[in-house]
Amino acid sequence: MLIIGCSKGRHLGKAIAEHLGIEYIELEVKRFPDNEIYLRYPKGVSGEDVVFVQSFYGEINDALVEVIFAAETAEDLGAKRLILAAPYFPYLRQDKRFKEGECISLRTVAGVIDDFFDEIMIIDPHLHSEKTLSHIFKIHSKKLTADHLIAAYIKENIKNPLLVGPDEESYRWAKKTAEDIGAESVILEKERHSGREVTVFFNKEINAKDKNIVIVDDIISTGNTLIETIKHLKQAGARKITCIAVHGIFTDNSLARLSETGAKIISTNTIPNETAEMDVSKIIADALKKEK
Ligand code: R5P
Repeated sequence: MLIIGCSKGRHLGKAIAEHLGIEYIELEVKRFPDNEIYLRYPKGVSGEDVVFVQSFYGEINDALVEVIFAAETAEDLGAKRLILAAPYFPYLRQDKRFKEGECISLRTVAGVIDDFFDEIMIIDPHLHSEKTLSHIFKIHSKKLTADHLIAAYIKENIKNPLLVGPDEESYRWAKKTAEDIGAESVILEKERHSGREVTVFFNKEINAKDKNIVIVDDIISTGNTLIETIKHLKQAGARKITCIAVHGIFTDNSLARLSETGAKIISTNTIPNETAEMDVSKIIADALKKEK
């Protein structure tokens, strides 16, 4: 087995290979002047099980084209099995036609991955109504989770925590993590008006006074869910607030806007950024160990 660091997976590829004690190579990825992607393997992959580590942040569509080129080339060069290890994978939300005429992008992207890979593994996939990866991909798929990293971080760093989930979908992260570490939790309600606008409600009174509030969610994108939640918690008397997410995407200058609230922001390194205090490389390595 060989680990390939694609352009958005290099922050994890080497560490994954080290955990497994196997070879790591970095894919050579360049741009032609007209922005077309140039890609080259610096050494042969013939007869190998090849693991592509690629996360999807920033120019996600380019990242997708890159792994497709990489997979097709590896197969052409004689690779045996192609595994996509995606710390963060996009396009999982549009799983139906919400409005007439829309593209069901989840279906299209899954079809492309099925065509080029033998297996996919994703950490805490941001799914909408479809909850099972095997209903999305025809190839073998694995849902990995960073649950235990979040639980361990809270246990180690935050005394007397009250875990808050900003919406029903965060139940899995907030309530379950609270149970794992024997802490209290509360799940709020959220109404989403658009990709950027949300309203968060308290469905019961919560006693936030003197508690170390930890808001746990799977993803921070525009940051508006957290900013709205922080506002309500402060009104309820909360002083010290930490926000923990698996995936820190941080669009719309949200990291700066969140920092202005005074809350501490922590994420894993599925996407590299300054908040990434929890390392997911071992989660992927452990999953790959079973494939060797
Ligand atoms: C629910 O939709 C998710 O768990 C997150 O709360 C949401 O995706 C965060 O998005 P944003 O940061 O744009 O509010």
